[in-house]
Amino acid sequence: METTKPPPALRALLALRWLFLLLASLPAAAQAQAPVDLAQRLQACAACHGKEGRATPDGYYPRIAGKPAGYLFNQLANFRDGRRRNADMAHLTAQMSNAYLREIAEYFSSLELPYPPAAPVQATVAELARGAALVHEGDKARGIPACAACHGERLTGTLPAIPGLLGLPRSYVGGQLGAWQTQIRSARKPDCMADVAKRLTSADVAAASAWLASQTLPTDTRPAAAPAKPLPLECGSAQP
Ligand code: HEC
Ligand code: HEC
Repeated sequence: METTKPPPALRALLALRWLFLLLASLPAAAQAQAPVDLAQRLQACAACHGKEGRATPDGYYPRIAGKPAGYLFNQLANFRDGRRRNADMAHLTAQMSNAYLREIAEYFSSLELPYPPAAPVQATVAELARGAALVHEGDKARGIPACAACHGERLTGTLPAIPGLLGLPRSYVGGQLGAWQTQIRSARKPDCMADVAKRLTSADVAAASAWLASQTLPTDTRPAAAPAKPLPLECGSAQP
């Protein structure tokens, strides 16, 4: 039952304590062992990120399962190195080597798990139409490229390191775009998402995130091959 669960903050705290004990008890050399071992150790991530990294319904903890490995690796390194700010994630990754972060990224990327059905969103028809136009066509007059040019026609992400945009809660998508606008989140330079986010008004952010969150995922949710055309902006984080 939902009501018997401890509140998210407490759950997170318990998870962190458990994780630190677990990670601290392992000698560095043992951090590159059998996958069963890794899966067991990474169960602690599920306390925040949901069962097997599928995300929690409240939308605060993002899904990590099935995202491109290069993307997951970049994010873990971004938290560790301060390009993306979240105290828990920074703390968790502080002592982790690139090699270990890659292992973690490969593990979660390899999980092919179903996505929940799209949640209903509150938005006007005009807002949703604006969102769809931004995603598929961008806005030439304002120098905004189509999101699909980088995130893939199916919007399930592109290899090796661009994440999908479907199956994410509206609040998460809006929150991340806002974080780029206020520089709480950044990526390796040139940071194309910072350029994109800067050109979006708050109405654009609301429209794009509402439309994206209202979409049903395609049958094949895996990231597509790298785009054949060069990306419309240069992205330092398009590679792991
Ligand atoms: C205490 C809660 C907590 C724990 C435990 C935790 N995370 Fe996170 N993680 C978060 C939050 C909150 C965010 C989103 C931060 C933001 O919005 O910038 C996040 C973001 C991430 C992201 C970026 C996802 C994306 O789509 O951009 C990755 C990857 C990640 N976590 C991996 C892990 C892994 C691997 C573990 C276990 C070693 C872990 N996390 C444990 C809270 C947690
Ligand atoms: C020029 C290529 C490019 C374009 C155009 C682009 N993106 Fe991105 N986007 C990226 C890259 C690269 C990343 C990964 C950045 C990182 O490593 O942190 C990303 C990440 C994101 C994320 C973070 C996802 C997560 O799981 O945390 C969101 C949200 C996002 N983009 C939304 C958009 C939207 C909405 C548009 C259109 C208005 C858009 N992007 C257009 C390249 C692009």
